[in-house]
Amino acid sequence: MNFHSQVRRPAGVQGIMMARRMNANHRGMMEWALEHLDVSSISNVLDVGCGGGGPMSQLSRKASHARFTGLDLSGDMLRMTGKVNASVLKKGMLDRVRGSVSSLPFRDGSFDTVFACETTYFWPDLRENLRECRRVLADGGRMILVQEAWDSPKWRERNESWQKGFKMRFCSLEEYGSLLGEAGFADVSTVTEEEQGWFVTVAGTGGN
Ligand SMILES: C[S@@+](CC[C@H](N)C(=O)[O-])C[C@H]1O[C@@H](n2cnc3c(N)ncnc32)[C@H](O)[C@@H]1O
Repeated sequence: MNFHSQVRRPAGVQGIMMARRMNANHRGMMEWALEHLDVSSISNVLDVGCGGGGPMSQLSRKASHARFTGLDLSGDMLRMTGKVNASVLKKGMLDRVRGSVSSLPFRDGSFDTVFACETTYFWPDLRENLRECRRVLADGGRMILVQEAWDSPKWRERNESWQKGFKMRFCSLEEYGSLLGEAGFADVSTVTEEEQGWFVTVAGTGGN
């Protein structure tokens, strides 16, 4: 596997090294995102594309009462998520499931939160995959997206080089909003950090 595919689907020794880098690189963005998230009502979280488990560990420190399920295509990432979140695992509050966002192996309404950090760029069919995330959320639940990139004139040159190398897909913030709406979400709100190009989007299921 080459360097670029280690971001899409990290595996093996190189994948673990890449995931360590991602855990470190995403830390500041997650700290910022957590300042904008009310996690008090979170109790059962699906972390889609959990990778090396760094963002999950930051979220779980703030939502220490919550149960977590980490899902990823890569078995090596699930093992790393277990190590990085060893205390949550030890408490019996972490499940790890190998699978794809295309077909989540969970019943309808299984979670109150679906969290996706730095992963939607790689999803095969964003609208349908968001619909699948909506399916596993209970009424009154929320989808949380945290990303360091979106499509905008300011970042176009950088995005194009990432797009070529990593085969990532970027949407504008308006497009993410429309796709979430088409996938059945309501009340979409987004906060941005313009200097860094980070954003956090929260979308509700529309139920109570
Ligand atoms: C850039 S990493 C981000 C990992 C972690 N969320 C973070 O922010 O550090 C992207 C992760 O998404 C996973 N991924 C990519 N496509 C996926 C899919 N279709 N279903 C589930 N996970 C996927 C990859 O295996 C990888 O671990």
